[in-house]
Amino acid sequence: MSEKTRSLRLRDIPGVTPTIAEKLESAGFTNPWAIVVARVEELAERAGIPQSTAERIVTNTRKLLGVTFRTAKEVKMERLNIRKITTGSKNLDDLLGGGIETKTITEFYGEYGTGKTQICHQLSINVQLSPEKGGLSGKAVYIDTEGTFRWERIEAMARGVGLDPDEAMENIYYQRAYNSDHQMAIVEELFKFVPENDVKLVVVDSVTSHFRAEYPGREHLAVRQQKLNAHLHHLVKLAEIYNIAVVVTNQVMARPDVFYGDPTQAVGGHVLAHTPGVRVQLRRAKGHKRIARVVDAPHLPEGEAVFIITDEGIRDPEE
Ligand code: GTP
Ligand code: MG
Repeated sequence: MSEKTRSLRLRDIPGVTPTIAEKLESAGFTNPWAIVVARVEELAERAGIPQSTAERIVTNTRKLLGVTFRTAKEVKMERLNIRKITTGSKNLDDLLGGGIETKTITEFYGEYGTGKTQICHQLSINVQLSPEKGGLSGKAVYIDTEGTFRWERIEAMARGVGLDPDEAMENIYYQRAYNSDHQMAIVEELFKFVPENDVKLVVVDSVTSHFRAEYPGREHLAVRQQKLNAHLHHLVKLAEIYNIAVVVTNQVMARPDVFYGDPTQAVGGHVLAHTPGVRVQLRRAKGHKRIARVVDAPHLPEGEAVFIITDEGIRDPEE
């Protein structure tokens, strides 16, 4: 995306009067990119505007932002824009084809204590590193749904990579999400917040816990999955539009039989089934060792990587 389209505002969209702009903003559609990814019905309903007006606005926004056919060459050039954040472990980076990619969503899933939250902390630090050191010289947004964010770990990991801990903490925007609606609303705000604050990584730890708690059991499965898919879709758009990395976690249980039939908690356990992205399964091994495996990624080689969690953060095992 060019700098020009990045800075466009609602009032630049033909047909958006000041009154309509106000309605759109208070419904959370704060810039043209938030509109172009919305469905017409959703836009009309939430902003309280007629369907026909919403339709015209969406069409005009597409034109304004140049959302249209691209040539294969342009697709290739887009692909070359993809950047990577180091995880702190060379083994894990290699498994991921160089690190956590921008323009896509990466899901870490596994049982409790497998290192999902530690990886999220580490990436919030590493994104701040210069490109030569495996970062993007950017800031992080950390959405915490379980209250497991620890500034002490951030401090220790910052020291571990030679960053000033206070400065590093200033570069992480933290927010606790209290329920799934809140979590979704935060992500919608990010369409404005990310470009304005030089954010290059968005973490959602965990992406599934509120949805599971609020829509329990098989009887709520359809609506839960539908909401979760919409949420994941927004996250993917955020990653694509702003060329940032999005990392989500998902705890899966040891006993898949209990959750049989539930795609958010099934055998294999990942939630990205209907969303493009990279899925990484984590499991525990001897000592501090953890094993990562990339699942369903045709562009990445099959295999596993071993990493460890130390006081300084994610590292390769010594040997
Ligand atoms: P759930 O959120 O419960 O699903 O687990 P998780 O996958 O997020 O696990 P998390 O990332 O919290 O990993 C916890 C593990 O990280 C612990 O069991 C420790 O092995 C390790 N760990 C956490 N903090 C430290 C630390 O300060 N030093 C060291 N060496 N290891 C730590
Ligand atoms: Mg965790």
